[in-house]
Amino acid sequence: VTPQTIHVALGARSYDVLAAPGLLQRAGDAILPFAKSRRVFVVTDTNVHARYAQALTACLTAAGVAPIYFTLAPGEGAKSFPVLARLCDDLLAAGVERGDLVLAFGGGVIGDLAGFAAGILKRGVDFVQIPTTLLAQVDSSVGGKTAINAAAGKNMIGLFNQPRLVLADTAVLDTLPRREMLAGFAEVAKYGLLGDAAFFAWLEAHGAAVLDHSGPERLYAITTSIAAKARIVAEDEREAGMRALLNLGHTFGHALEAETGYGERLLHGESVAIGMIMAFELSERLGHCAPGAAARIAAFFKRIGLPASPRDVPGLNASPETMVAHMTHDKKNKDGRITLILARGIGQSFVTSDTPVAAIRDQWARAL
Ligand SMILES: NC(=O)c1ccc[n+]([C@@H]2O[C@H](COP(=O)([O-])OP(=O)(O)OC[C@H]3O[C@@H](n4cnc5c(N)ncnc54)[C@H](O)[C@@H]3O)[C@@H](O)[C@H]2O)c1
Ligand SMILES: [Zn+2]
Repeated sequence: VTPQTIHVALGARSYDVLAAPGLLQRAGDAILPFAKSRRVFVVTDTNVHARYAQALTACLTAAGVAPIYFTLAPGEGAKSFPVLARLCDDLLAAGVERGDLVLAFGGGVIGDLAGFAAGILKRGVDFVQIPTTLLAQVDSSVGGKTAINAAAGKNMIGLFNQPRLVLADTAVLDTLPRREMLAGFAEVAKYGLLGDAAFFAWLEAHGAAVLDHSGPERLYAITTSIAAKARIVAEDEREAGMRALLNLGHTFGHALEAETGYGERLLHGESVAIGMIMAFELSERLGHCAPGAAARIAAFFKRIGLPASPRDVPGLNASPETMVAHMTHDKKNKDGRITLILARGIGQSFVTSDTPVAAIRDQWARAL
């Protein structure tokens, strides 16, 4: 399969995203032009290392590039100052130089951490992303947001730091746990819901194939998602305007994540799935959107196995007031008003800070 190429147009910081099944086996040649020193500092986690380090080493070595691995424990806990500090020290101890290349090889956790480390090491070392989860391929590896978490909240400390290249091998998703795959699929559906009704309808027809095997449907869903994100990021790299549309479902979702502790109880993508349905329900109730869209989305998510309501979250027992309080702490807000992404219909989202808090509270009261 010839890789599909999506260009992220950001002037001097432009780069390509390549996607294809089996791309990992060809990563050496793709990375070579960016590995001036002929060595790459690969940041990964133990799950990805166990499955794919051998293949990566083989193709890098064949291209004349030497990998040095930094393998972390999996999980969100890696996005912390202690792990960042240790990783930076380890990279420096291994002799990383400005002309070297950092390779983020894993899911969104590894991408966010390694991208941030690359941005601050020696005032900036180039980095490349090889995302290995669906979420990382369609979302976190593209657009240049990197961060760790703080006591005050998730992703509070970080940089805009664009990679030099992104390689998305759609076949490595074959080993991803089903639940992680579905969580990433919620972000795929998001691109349809926020701006592309035809893509959403295509997903309704082909979602099962996207999830089940690394065939043409999965590649199409991933490249369509990346192209949508690339378009938005090229328009608004630092989220002054339309990039906020990518937060569809996220303000409601973040409240659910905060309430459930950002862990196994509710994955990020699962919270986004529920949050998008709530955003459409609220849009319908406020008269922005014709009735029926939220029910259609909910029916689709239930059919493929995503949660569709806060009632699907095990053990959730919170008041509407508590959930609204979580939303007012969202870092995307300005002047104490809750910024939401609402919709005029499937594929027609918009940003607004005009929604009365009482209406948002009421939405939680109905959903919980
Ligand atoms: N920078 C951004 O723009 C952006 C956007 C969205 C999300 N994020 C961040 O992304 C993170 C979540 O990323 P994620 O969902 O990829 O989670 P993750 O990185 O924790 O990966 C999920 C799990 O899958 C495992 N895994 C990864 N690839 C695998 C494979 N091919 N086969 C088997 N197992 C594999 C990992 O070891 C981990 O246990 C969050 O920290 C979130 O804040 C960042
Ligand atoms: Zn998200």
